Amino acid sequence: MSSSTSTVTVGDKSVELPVKEGTIGPSVVDISKLYGQTGMFTYDPGFTSTAATESKITYIDGDKGILLYRGYPIDQLAEHGDFLETCYLLLYGELPTAAQKADFDYRVTRHTMVHDQMNRFFTGFRRDAHPMAIMVACVGALSAFYHDSTDISDPHQRMIASMRMIAKMPTLAAMAYKYSIGQPFVYPQNDLDYTSNFLKMCFAVPAEEYKVNPVLSRALDRIFILHADHEQNASTSTVRLAGSSGANPFACIAAGIACLWGPAHGGANEAALKMLEEIGTPDRIPEYIAKAKDKNDPFRLMGFGHRVYKNYDPRARIMQKTTHEVLNELGIKDDPLLDVAVELEQIALKDEYFVEKKLYPNIDFYSGITLKAMGFPTSMFTVLFALARTVGWIAQWSEMIEDPSQRIGRPRQLYTGSPERDYVTVAQRG
Ligand code: SDX
Repeated sequence: MSSSTSTVTVGDKSVELPVKEGTIGPSVVDISKLYGQTGMFTYDPGFTSTAATESKITYIDGDKGILLYRGYPIDQLAEHGDFLETCYLLLYGELPTAAQKADFDYRVTRHTMVHDQMNRFFTGFRRDAHPMAIMVACVGALSAFYHDSTDISDPHQRMIASMRMIAKMPTLAAMAYKYSIGQPFVYPQNDLDYTSNFLKMCFAVPAEEYKVNPVLSRALDRIFILHADHEQNASTSTVRLAGSSGANPFACIAAGIACLWGPAHGGANEAALKMLEEIGTPDRIPEYIAKAKDKNDPFRLMGFGHRVYKNYDPRARIMQKTTHEVLNELGIKDDPLLDVAVELEQIALKDEYFVEKKLYPNIDFYSGITLKAMGFPTSMFTVLFALARTVGWIAQWSEMIEDPSQRIGRPRQLYTGSPERDYVTVAQRG
């Protein structure tokens, strides 16, 4: 990468700071020496103008609505590949050969079962516990079972931990779902592909034969591809920061799941569907558009807007197409939620508030309709997001661990609290 310098004048001091250029996208001013040379910090809560790391994994062009995984456009990967191929690409940087793909599928498949004592974790939860609470607990608890893959300094242990998490997330997610509906757990069946195995673990019952619908399995596999990684989003940044302290990989992924749960992030798919259900019919849309525009109303159109995309989220387009595919396959001719969603999108995209603020549908806007049609309850939507994003979190975590310049992340602050003052005894406090 070529580099030049940028002169920054702070008070009566001028400092030369190196500028680093990437292969594509914005260059960066390296401010790591700024405090040492000027005694001042930069200030950027929410990181709207701050690159926290260098990465080779995923690239987003928010203005053009472009998303690349290791340089490959998301629509091409979603069209031609499968989720485990995307996992291989994100982890190793290249698309696998047929032999590499077969070996990777085999290695992941051999880790799909969880330690049988994990079952006892579930009996401690109420049946109506949110499955994301269960996932945070169970993924964090994996470190209590797999001591042979928690030494992050050992590349082999990092690889085993990575395989285990990619393989076990569907099993734990299906167990969380089964537990919530009082049905027995269904064990993985390793002669099924990754996503078919997950559908069977979710929807099969011991009382009868379960046949995976290949159209639904392909659609869900594509949905996993869309959710696999997304640069330094909030949950990925959480995983990186947790990992920078040397925490074991299971604990780091559990931290990512906790962050993803928020309605401003991965929880938006559950919130978006609830919003569509609350709106109910197209005639009530203007009332909700007005609420979303009202500065005094905290309501936001869930599934709309994005920190980076100031154009249509490319994943939302593919998601919308998948929604129609799934509804057609299931013979759902007129889904009232879809009617509301399509009408809401059309109205919002013409409204000058949304146009001026560049608010477009994001990946969460249509995903809920699709997942609900497949039979998942809204409480499982973010669990599926976490299942798919686990590979992205792991790829980003691995990139950080393998970076020789990696140090513990420790941001500074602008302090606006009380200056130093002496202790006052309770008798003197009046
Ligand atoms: C994901 O980072 C990622 O990559 C995340 C993700 C991934 O794959 O990891 O893409 C997944 O999290 C997608 C986003 C899902 N969240 C939602 O759909 C929740 C609704 N959206 C918003 O909460 C919001 O748009 C965010 C959180 C997504 C982005 O927030 P920003 O970048 O901090 O933007 P902002 O809150 O500063 O909003 C800018 C303006 C504000 O108005 P002003 O103060 O400038 O007058 O736009 C308004 C906001 O009020 N606005 C909205 C809105 N989103 C932003 N107004 C109404 N409805 C909305 N949805």
